[in-house]
Amino acid sequence: MAGAVAPGGEGWSSRWAFILAAVGAAVGLGNIWRFPTLAGENGGGAFVLVYIACVILIGLPMVLSEVLIGRHGRSDAYHSVVKVAEDSGVSKSWGLFGGFGILGAAAILSFYSVVAGWVLYYVGVMGADFFGALFAGNPMAGALAAETPETIPNRMTDLFANNTLLLGMHVLFMGVTIWIVARGVTDGIEKAATILMPAFFVLLVLITIYGAFTGEFAKAVAFLFTPDFSKLNASVINEALGQALFSMSVASAALITYGGYVARETKLAPTAVMIGFADTGVAILAGLMIFPIVFAVGLDAAAGPTLVFQSLPIAFHTMPAGSLVGLLFFVLVFFAALTSSISLLEAVTAWAKEKTGWSRPMAAWVTGGVIFLVGVACALSLNIWSDVRLLGFWPLFAEANIFDTIDGLVGKILLPVTALLTSIFIGWKADKKLVQAETELSAGMMSVYRFLIGWLAPIAVFLILLFGLFPSLLG
Ligand code: PFF
Repeated sequence: MAGAVAPGGEGWSSRWAFILAAVGAAVGLGNIWRFPTLAGENGGGAFVLVYIACVILIGLPMVLSEVLIGRHGRSDAYHSVVKVAEDSGVSKSWGLFGGFGILGAAAILSFYSVVAGWVLYYVGVMGADFFGALFAGNPMAGALAAETPETIPNRMTDLFANNTLLLGMHVLFMGVTIWIVARGVTDGIEKAATILMPAFFVLLVLITIYGAFTGEFAKAVAFLFTPDFSKLNASVINEALGQALFSMSVASAALITYGGYVARETKLAPTAVMIGFADTGVAILAGLMIFPIVFAVGLDAAAGPTLVFQSLPIAFHTMPAGSLVGLLFFVLVFFAALTSSISLLEAVTAWAKEKTGWSRPMAAWVTGGVIFLVGVACALSLNIWSDVRLLGFWPLFAEANIFDTIDGLVGKILLPVTALLTSIFIGWKADKKLVQAETELSAGMMSVYRFLIGWLAPIAVFLILLFGLFPSLLG
């Protein structure tokens, strides 16, 4: 193991292993349904341009900062930040934001796994459908041939009404995630990423080509890229930045943790650029994969969360070989969700292992188990607990069920606070020589980086926090 460098003896076996794992962390549910929907709703090309600016100006410096903290600290997010703080001669309390990141990762995973469970359910539905059609000698059939476009959306509502199924899928998804993390960095996480990510890319390209030939490709291109600058306002820019940070897995301890396993020889800056480039490329390609199919059957592009689970299955119903393409599509989403969940759990597991001295499998099963239980509450808030309001006294969350409350707390508070503290720490507190030694940036690039991370990022992230907490400020 050339890259075995961390204190626990764990490390990526090559630079590519790290890149695939980090891209796996970044590419997830956020890229596949959230980015295309946001872009479509908020001015197409104008949104895409703002998004790309956020990735380059704020996302990349944040990714670089987190990976450098991890590589210097060689530990979980909390202990790595403490180490950088110590070596910079500043208070160890800065470790707090490492801890916030870990808490954020746990909170994200609790509901992420529930949604990934829906994906798994659709893999099952489409799989049964495809193999049924295949054995009946009709592999070119549309999906769910026995149903109608009116009944297909019921698949989702039926799932939401069925607790056993909902929880069963959540158990299954969390179980697979824990199992992989328990196997370790090289034998679990890296192996999963090196199998799942290439398969993901192949599927993405294949389904995009399929959509380009059978669907409304030109219309999708126009929808995603024709810039409508009149749609841009403070709220849209705010959303673009929030999405860019979430999509790049910033402020959730995952990148710091993965950075801890990176070999000394690896150059961090070009690696960070590759992660950002791949993540953004996938988000855009996902739009080019989904919308030609959605438009082919005249469905609404702004359907929101139901786009993937209700609109697309209706499209696959009428399209040639829809049952096969539908199956492949949900397998693709499943792969994307799994590699992201693995990174979220690893962020928490690495910390638990360090803190308690537990073995990796023990840390993975215990932390995964606790997160699973919080996820159960998120899942049940879709039906029997739909009236529970955890923070009903707070106007911001007065209408939010458990799922939306946890999602909102993370997106509006925990992640922005963590990102804000990370940028202030690296921009102002961390030893300049230490940062220079880890990033190996030229003097010119270093001043650009210092400006972006020390000024632009904190101001922009502070605005996300402000507008998230006081939405009325945006009018
Ligand atoms: N970036 C993932 C997505 O776009 O779905 C979500 C995510 C994964 C966020 C890992 C944070 C994280 F640490």
